[in-house]
Amino acid sequence: MPIFNKKTDNKAMELPTHIAIIMDGNGRWAKKRGLPRTAGHKVGAEAFRTIANYAKSIGLQYLTVYAFSTENWKRSEEEVNTIMELLEKYLRELIRDMDKNRVRFCFFGDLSRLSPTLRAEAAETVEKSKQYEGVQVNFCLNYGGRDEILRAARAFAAKCAAGEARPEDLTEEDFSKLLWSAGVPDPDLVIRPSGEERISNFLLWQSAYAEYYFTDTLWPDFGPRDLDLAIEAYNKRSRRFGGAK
Ligand code: IPE
Ligand code: IPE
Ligand code: MG
Repeated sequence: MPIFNKKTDNKAMELPTHIAIIMDGNGRWAKKRGLPRTAGHKVGAEAFRTIANYAKSIGLQYLTVYAFSTENWKRSEEEVNTIMELLEKYLRELIRDMDKNRVRFCFFGDLSRLSPTLRAEAAETVEKSKQYEGVQVNFCLNYGGRDEILRAARAFAAKCAAGEARPEDLTEEDFSKLLWSAGVPDPDLVIRPSGEERISNFLLWQSAYAEYYFTDTLWPDFGPRDLDLAIEAYNKRSRRFGGAK
């Protein structure tokens, strides 16, 4: 039974506003079982479905997940194609079951490099799910933190060149509005499963004061209980944001 359940009314535990997850370890999960890496991506997609629904049930406001990075194109054509096909299938199912799950979706990343089918499905997902309240899931697809910052810098430079802005007036708040995450509060907790302890170009700007939680569990094995453990660990941290306590 998950410990962080709304029904248990666990007031002693603070739920972060925004949790971000690097969904890593699919390949190793499959390898351990003598299966092709792509089998891990399939089960990983199921793990995501479960966690998104769980996040909604406990009242989380924002869940951001890293699904495919700007660097993941380096993988074999076969693996990339399978991931893209799985994503297409996943989004089709998401659209089909939308009224049941009622999760609001956004995408962070440059979708222009994706297939027209995937782009159309992503657009439909965003449009149809706009009406839902509760958790907002930000799905990072062809996302890179550096790429995101560069695009924002370019957009601001273009405004300056057009005489619409002045470099000296740029604030952190204005800059945040030029990122994919515009309007979304910074993540409080960033979780990385799979035993790796690095951020791999995820939410570089937004994670300035995020708490990190690393676990050896591989993403396909990650379930509500693991999210509870991360939230429990988060509750033991003392966030200072540079101040003294
Ligand atoms: C995460 O799992 C999924 C993507 C990056 C697309 P990996 O495929 O990176 O799995 P490992 O890290 O090789 O185990
Ligand atoms: C990060 O995992 C990207 C996603 C989970 C989508 P990677 O597997 O690509 O990261 P590295 O290569 O281990 O740093
Ligand atoms: Mg990996």
